[in-house]
Amino acid sequence: MGFPIERRAEHGVGTHHKRHALLLNGKSQPSRPLGHGYPSAFQCFRTASIAEDAVADAVRSAKFNGYAPTVGILPARRAIAESLSQELPYKLSADNVYLTLGCAQAIEVILAVLARPNANILLSRPGYPYYAARAAYSHLEFRHFDLLPEKGWEVDLDRVEALADENTVAMVIVNPGNPCGNVFTYQHLKKIVDCIKGFQNISSDPATFIQFHKSLREPPRIFFSKIVEILKEAADICYDTIMEIPCMTCPSKPEGSMFVMVKLNVSLLEGIDDDVDFCVKLAKEESVIVLPGVTVGLKNWLRITFAIEPSLLKQGLGRIKAFYQRRAKKIQ
Ligand SMILES: Cc1ncc(COP(=O)(O)O)c(C=O)c1O
Repeated sequence: MGFPIERRAEHGVGTHHKRHALLLNGKSQPSRPLGHGYPSAFQCFRTASIAEDAVADAVRSAKFNGYAPTVGILPARRAIAESLSQELPYKLSADNVYLTLGCAQAIEVILAVLARPNANILLSRPGYPYYAARAAYSHLEFRHFDLLPEKGWEVDLDRVEALADENTVAMVIVNPGNPCGNVFTYQHLKKIVDCIKGFQNISSDPATFIQFHKSLREPPRIFFSKIVEILKEAADICYDTIMEIPCMTCPSKPEGSMFVMVKLNVSLLEGIDDDVDFCVKLAKEESVIVLPGVTVGLKNWLRITFAIEPSLLKQGLGRIKAFYQRRAKKIQ
């Protein structure tokens, strides 16, 4: 159970985040991007040099300039299979690995394969929106089951049972979770498998999809444990500060990924209609960017990223607190 390292760029940040500030408000206050999913923009989350060197060496070798097989080159698939097998009770082979350009391409491949007339797929709410968009594109019906905040974002299994039928071809489980930052226990994953295995079109066999990663033969373990430590510290800072802001509630502390879902009580705020309004005004007044929950399926929630330099995170959260204090409704 940890904080997997993911490189995500769905909300452009990085070297451009200072420029955001100038666009969003007249003050020369640099922005604090707590809405993105792109930690390696920050020095403390920078990719290990062993990985950077491996990529540079591959380019300079001129050995990999031709068209690669669609499923990925054999040595890379073999290295991934060997690496993953170390932590599994069975052995994967290179044939079990299909390499894609990020998860988005994996989603495209899988959904295109699964789509057929009358088929449906089960997706979580809140969830990453691309699954529904891509399912619709393939005319694959999607049905939402809830993740339960009061139960550490576990799957609402009763709802899954009610939604699934003989035309259900897949259920998407994101673990560790985006946007909730939860990590399912082994027992809960087992319950999910027990719940869905009655539906003949879903196989509960393990599927293995991984983003391209270098240097798997010599995993830089110290590098990873350092990153996990920083993420844990950042998750603590985030959770503790949010709990001090009266209009926000955090039902569970994040245990993985780099996000936390925060419930917003707009009735405690002056002049704020909903989560989108909150995010727009926060960006304008404080140059802090957070993601409105409605974009991941939960209105009047916020998704906050803690994968930024801890000092910048503290500043960003401090500004959210100041925003609350300025906007708090005065008790008559
Ligand atoms: C659950 C989930 N699926 C898919 C993606 C897309 O991944 P990628 O940026 O690797 O294409 C993301 C990215 O954040 C994600 O969180």
